[in-house]
Parts: sequence; C-alpha cells; structure tokens
Amino acid sequence: MARTDLPENIAEEIRNRVFNESGFMKLTQVVRGRGGTFRVSLRPVVIKDENKYQGEMTEDGRTQVKNFDLDGARAGLEEMLGQTGPRELHLITASGDLHVRITKKGKALISRSGRMARKVDARQGHDRVKRQPLTAFDAVPLLKTLGIADADGNIRASMRGKYDQVNEFLRIIDATIAAKPEKTLNIVDCGCGRAYLTLAVYFYLTVVRGFDVKVCGIDKQADVIATARAMADALDVSDRVIFVEGTLADSDVPFDPDMVLSLHACDTATDEALARGIEWKCRYLLCAPCCQHELHKSLKVGGPMRAVLRHGILRERLADLLTDTFRAQILRVLGFRVQVMEFVSADATTRNILLRAEFSVKPGQQAAVSEYLELRDFWEVTPWLETRLADLMGKYLDHYQRGEARNPS
Ligand SMILES: C[S@@+](CC[C@H](N)C(=O)[O-])C[C@H]1O[C@@H](n2cnc3c(N)ncnc32)[C@H](O)[C@@H]1O
Repeated sequence: MARTDLPENIAEEIRNRVFNESGFMKLTQVVRGRGGTFRVSLRPVVIKDENKYQGEMTEDGRTQVKNFDLDGARAGLEEMLGQTGPRELHLITASGDLHVRITKKGKALISRSGRMARKVDARQGHDRVKRQPLTAFDAVPLLKTLGIADADGNIRASMRGKYDQVNEFLRIIDATIAAKPEKTLNIVDCGCGRAYLTLAVYFYLTVVRGFDVKVCGIDKQADVIATARAMADALDVSDRVIFVEGTLADSDVPFDPDMVLSLHACDTATDEALARGIEWKCRYLLCAPCCQHELHKSLKVGGPMRAVLRHGILRERLADLLTDTFRAQILRVLGFRVQVMEFVSADATTRNILLRAEFSVKPGQQAAVSEYLELRDFWEVTPWLETRLADLMGKYLDHYQRGEARNPS
C-alpha cells in the first residue's frame, strides 16, 4: 500500500503556523473513507479570558466539541498530522490559506492562497465579544429605538441580518474616512427606509469617531419617514438627523453633502442615488444595490452570449453583474476611484455587493472612457445611469467618439 504520510516540511509548517505565528484561525482535516466522512478541526478560542483551543470532531453526523489547553492542543495536532490515508487539510491563518490533499496513491497536492492580511478577532471563541462598530459604544438605546434590540438590549433574531449589514456598512465608512483630515461630514442616506443605517451612522461617527456630522435620510414613503422622525426625536438628535419625504430625484437636502449612502435602494434608485451624489459633488459614494430590473429587459446581444441570455436565472445574474460593472465604469469615467466589494456574506443576502467610490482624478480619463465605450458597444445597451447623467457623460463620451485624444476641460 502507498505511504500516505504528510510530507515532514508541510507538517512542520503547519505546527509553526498554528502555534508559533500569530494569526492562526482554523485547521480542518477531512478524511473520506468507505465508512463515511470524518472531519476534525482545531481553532483558537478565549474562554473566561484564557487562551484555549477548541477541537471539533464530526463522524456519522455526530459532532463532539472539546476545549484544550496548549499541551492538549499540541497532542491533538500531532494526532491530526499523524493520520494516514487519503485526506484533505485546510489551514486558515491571517496571512493566507494552505490546502493539502493526500491522494490514494500517497501523493501530496499542495496549494496556497496569495498572501493576505486578514483581520483577526482578538477575542475569538464561543464567549467572544465580537468587536463591531455598534459595540464600540453604548448603542443599546439606539438599537432598542430602532427595534433591532429587544427590551433587554439583546439583538432580536429577526433583526440579526440588518444588524450585521449596518455594522459592515459602518466598518466600510470608517475605512473610507480614515484619512479624512477634517472631522466634519454631511451625509445623505438615499432610500433610508426605517433609518437603521441613517441613525447608526450618525451615532457611530459622532460618539466613536468624534466627527461633527449631519445626516439626511430621504425616502418616498410617508409612513417610514414619520417613523424615522419619531425615532430621531426620541433619541434627541432631530436637529442633526433630518428626514425628507420625497423621491430621490426631486428631493432637496438641507446642506452640501460630502457622502451619499444607499443600502438596498431598489432598482434604479441606486442609480439615482449615485447620480445625485455626483451632481452634489460628493467626495464619497457608498452604495449597496438591491434588485436590478432595468438592464435585464434590454440585454439582447447576439453571438455566443445568446446561450447565456436564454436561461432566465443566468440572464438575471448576468444583468446584475453588468449593471454594477456599468455603474463602476461610469464612476471611473467621472473621476472616481471605485472598489466593488462584498460587504456581508453571500449566505446572509445575495444582495451583498457594495460599490465604494471616492472622487480622486480629473474626469474623462481616456482609459476609463474607452473601456466604458467598448463594454457598452459590446452589450449594445445604454445603461440607465448614462442616460440619467447624459449631459455630463456626453461631454466625455462624445469627445472620444469623435476621436479626439486629449481630455475635454
Ligand atoms: C429595501 S428598502 C431599504 C431601506 C433601508 N436603506 C434599509 O436598508 O433598511 C428600500 C427603500 O428605498 C425607498 N425608495 C425606493 N426608490 C426610491 C426613490 N426613487 N426615492 C426615494 N425612496 C425610494 C423605498 O421606499 C424603501 O424604503
């Protein structure tokens, strides 16, 4: 029978990365045999302020969990490394992943992720206090008023998704403004709904970051605006957090905004939020789009793409991807540096993409414009946002379509 030992240099690397380097997150080994699957994992935890390791073993659908001190964890790791037979090991650390597959013939197939700089929660474990923006201050009165927490201050199970979305959004806002020299910020939350993000962003930036903040939430629904105003009153911030009832296209805001936010504003409301942010000359635009129907209807391109467009679900996903691609590209044409990121896990919501844009260069850069035109011409569509911003976009697109090489002033 072939030897199926783990190569010694890999075993040594795993020992080092688990016990001697910082940033160990999890090691999992999966053995698939005739008798079923046996999965064992080890991860660091903090229990009553003590560093421990937690082992989890699953066999025949039954899971056992056991906590170990350092010696116990070392012994457990040696048992894992000493396992024989075909199996897979997956090591996750802050600096990247290592994946090892031992084949039936005893060959070790090794792959590694690129180098990463993951954030590690300083207090990992089953009793950890996860450090979230909304735990960086006493957010209980806010969370109770918003209805995210119950009367005892515990996050309601039904509101966990929204709580996570708001926390992740705040994290991204925090990173976006990290280098901002002035500590003032005027923010508009487009399609604010029941003002979860609107009020959270105000309290977080004011209390934790010491910013002088004004926020305006806009929504076309009278009842949600009435609720949002009542909450701002109850929290005694109605002079700094203002709500406007109206459509995004037609509403005026009571200050010159620096930042536009939108969290799941439906369909073209995300485009409208971006358009208003551009017209208001905002430096920052942070938008997590929602459902997207507009492009879906107009995708008709022929050629090999017909095969994709024939299937409803593929057509829908492609339209979603293209809508965000066009948005990002239009922002680039207009001088924004753009990142497209996942802001919450795809398990939590399929609407988990966020466009983060910061105005940074002269609009109409040739590379951005020609890439945009190529994309648009390939798909034979005019995105809603281009039509909405026709005057501004026309200035840059016409110029290059006429074949003139220099930036229009
Ligand atoms: C899915 S909800 C999200 C609400 C909130 N941002 C949140 O994450 O809880 C979308 C909100 O956008 C508002 N909305 C959609 N289109 C709008 C428009 N054109 N003008 C103003 N509000 C709009 C809706 O009334 C709704 O309250």
